[in-house]
Order: sequence, then C-alpha cells, then structure tokens
Amino acid sequence: MWKKILLGSSTFLLLRLLLSVILLLTITTRAYGAEEKKSAGGSDKKEKIEATISVNERANLVVSSCRQCHALEATEEQKTNPDAGPTLFGIVGRPIAQAGGYNYSEDLKTLGTLEPTWTEDLLMAYLYNPKVMLRTRLNNKKARGKMGFKLNRIIDRQAILKLLKTLQRPEE
Ligand code: HEC
Repeated sequence: MWKKILLGSSTFLLLRLLLSVILLLTITTRAYGAEEKKSAGGSDKKEKIEATISVNERANLVVSSCRQCHALEATEEQKTNPDAGPTLFGIVGRPIAQAGGYNYSEDLKTLGTLEPTWTEDLLMAYLYNPKVMLRTRLNNKKARGKMGFKLNRIIDRQAILKLLKTLQRPEE
C-alpha cells in the first residue's frame, strides 16, 4: 500500500512538474511572440509611410536640405551661410564648377578639367558622397571639396535627380 501511495504521489508530482513546465513555456513563447509582432508591426508601419510618399513628395523633402546651401533659380547670388554652394539651376548637363560668381574648391575645379559636364551618373555618385567621389575620380586621397552633405539612400538620390532635371529653361 505504501508503495502505491508513494508511486501515486510521485506520478502526481511529476505530472504537476510537467504541467508547470508547459505553462511556463507557453507564457514565454507568447510573450516573445508578442514582442516580435510588435517590432514587425512597427517596421511595417514605417514601410507603409515610406511607400505612401510619392517620388515628388520625397524630392520636395530632400530639396529643402539642398536649399539651405543652394539657390535653385538662375542667379549668381549665393546663400549667406559660410558653407553655401552655387545655384543648382540647370545643373544636369551643366559644366562642372562653372557657375558664375561662385568660388569653388580646387578639387571640384580639377574634376571640371576631367569631366565636361554633370551627367546623371556623376550627380548620383557626388550626392552619395562628394568626398569619396572626388577622391576616386581625381585619384587623390586628400581631395575633399567643399560640399559636406550626403544622401545615403538611393530613393532620395533618384527623387532629387528627377527634380533637378526640371530646373531648366523651358525649351523653345
Ligand atoms: C551644407 C551645405 C550644402 C548642402 C546642404 C548641399 N550642398 Fe551642394 N554644394 C555645397 C557646396 C559648398 C558646394 C561647392 C563644392 C566645391 O566647391 O567643392 C556644392 C556643390 C554642389 C554641386 C556642384 C555644383 C557645380 O556647379 O559644379 C552640386 C551638383 C550640388 N552641390 C548638389 C547638391 C544637392 C542636390 C543638394 C541636396 C540634396 C546639396 N547639394 C546640398 C554645399 C551644400
């Protein structure tokens, strides 16, 4: 009889142990699942916002950064901040480092002796990282130019390029 009781209680104990392990497991996996869902939901939302911005809206956002340093109109006047650049009017297809009234860096002027004009490819590379682009093209590890601004994301560069192409005099 003792044997039976002992056996009975130990099976009972074992069962309880098993149950609590299962319970613990479900709780933790549930909590983990919830965490995962939360973070996935977060990035989902972000992606949705990203996707809802049209190329034009994106370009307008990006160009507000360019405007801090660049005029967009046909003008020789520059912004008054010390790190201002030349106007971007007509930049696609424009000779490199040739806008009237602007004092370019030696590095960009040198690029202008190697490449005739700003092509779309050159612009994409320059906007991604002006310093690296100049160093590569000029084969000069010390080149840096004067523009200290980069656009890391390709969608931003593509959007701004589309806008830059519109900064032209209307064709006659
Ligand atoms: C913090 C100021 C600053 C911002 C922001 C900035 N630039 Fe510049 N940019 C400059 C300066 C300064 C130069 C002149 C570079 C040199 O002489 O080396 C320049 C030069 C350029 C040139 C070459 C112009 C030429 O005549 O050859 C292009 C193209 C250009 N920027 C595009 C852009 C675009 C597009 C944006 C926005 C996405 C932008 N920049 C944002 C300061 C800035």
